[in-house]
Amino acid sequence: MKACFMGLGYIGLPTAIIAAKHGIQITGVDINPKVVEMTNAGRLHIIEPGIEEMLKEVVASGMLKASTTPETADAYFMVVPTPFKGNHEPDVSYVEAATRAVLPFLKEGDLYVIESTSPVGTTEVMANIIFAERPELKDKIYIAYCPERILPGNVIYELVHNDRVIGGMNEASTDKAIEFYARFVQGTLHKTNARTAEMCKLTENSSRDVQIAFANELSIICDKAGINVWELINLANKHPRVNILQPGCGVGGHCIAVDPYFITSDFPAESKLIANAREINNYKAFWCAERVKNAMLEFELKNHRKPTVAMMGLAFKPNIDDLRESPSKYITTKVMQSCNNANILVVEPNVKEHNVFKLTDYREAYNKADIVAFLTAHNEFKTLEWSCDKVILDFCGIFKK
Ligand SMILES: NC(=O)c1ccc[n+]([C@@H]2O[C@H](COP(=O)([O-])OP(=O)(O)OC[C@H]3O[C@@H](n4cnc5c(N)ncnc54)[C@H](O)[C@@H]3O)[C@@H](O)[C@H]2O)c1
Repeated sequence: MKACFMGLGYIGLPTAIIAAKHGIQITGVDINPKVVEMTNAGRLHIIEPGIEEMLKEVVASGMLKASTTPETADAYFMVVPTPFKGNHEPDVSYVEAATRAVLPFLKEGDLYVIESTSPVGTTEVMANIIFAERPELKDKIYIAYCPERILPGNVIYELVHNDRVIGGMNEASTDKAIEFYARFVQGTLHKTNARTAEMCKLTENSSRDVQIAFANELSIICDKAGINVWELINLANKHPRVNILQPGCGVGGHCIAVDPYFITSDFPAESKLIANAREINNYKAFWCAERVKNAMLEFELKNHRKPTVAMMGLAFKPNIDDLRESPSKYITTKVMQSCNNANILVVEPNVKEHNVFKLTDYREAYNKADIVAFLTAHNEFKTLEWSCDKVILDFCGIFKK
């Protein structure tokens, strides 16, 4: 069996590698020539533990090769970005471009699957594009939607063991897609239709967003009420049916900070809670930036000099290098803009260099700083000792003080 993966990013590349390990001949396609070059050299362009060895192995055995253009295969997978546009409307242009790229290669009996997180109805829209260009394929190919749930950092395990939801345009398409995923997935493959599968992915991430918004709102209330939010949540969670998440400095990344907009933009009147959660989580990042700026003013008034400030973490969640939609990056930018970049030490232990931020080692920054803002709960930061000589703004529970 031959499969063509369109998009070799955080999701497409590991999936392609695992499929290749399970005997499927893979062409991995990416429009970024550097990604293609690195992949063919057996070098990983993403941070993902344990998978580079597998990449080397499947490239060396000829089971995976990367290219900037698709090739004839039996199955095609769209694993390209689905960001939103300026007005928070979903941008499915990458899915459309990838679909149009494989159009000339499609033949009777082929499977076409969208894995990219997509607004409800995207699979139908892409099917219409395919059949408008290739009407002879109507009812002759299998079209399905299968969202990805893996957690970057743990993909080798989760790609194989997570349950998956698979929704075809018709039952035969669902079955054909299940047949493919059953080659390497040990989790249960749940059958549904394409619209439900699309909405299922959006629901999962909106649910997380709403729960995090609750924790973030609590953290702002507790700050005003003089209550330690970490202690409060720990105590409330002793109730057998309460499970509150931990607050942070907002919500970031390619998924939870983005996907709820795919619901709110299509169902604005019906999605009030989901829209509010998005606002609360965005507001939390703004609130954190204001807290740092206020601490800087207070320090200057008290000490008659400007403080040195350490901004600890740029990634959107702990122990990764992914800065997409990161509230930590937003807060750091806002703080730097407020003081013309003076005396701000930016720390991100998972990134070697950045084209905007000059990065400082985390210990050096912590030792030098008068004010320390913990933005992302990286493991490295948890090795630091609490210091009473510093103003510590712990937005992500490093010390839980
Ligand atoms: N990263 C996650 O944790 C995660 C989890 C679940 C679902 N998703 C969804 O999976 C999809 C892919 O996400 P990702 O994190 O892998 O994105 P990514 O940005 O890491 O990778 C996407 C890749 O697609 C390539 N690309 C863009 N247009 C292309 C085209 N026309 N043809 C071929 N390649 C093209 C890009 O160059 C890039 O390398 C998105 O819809 C995302 O929402 C991501």
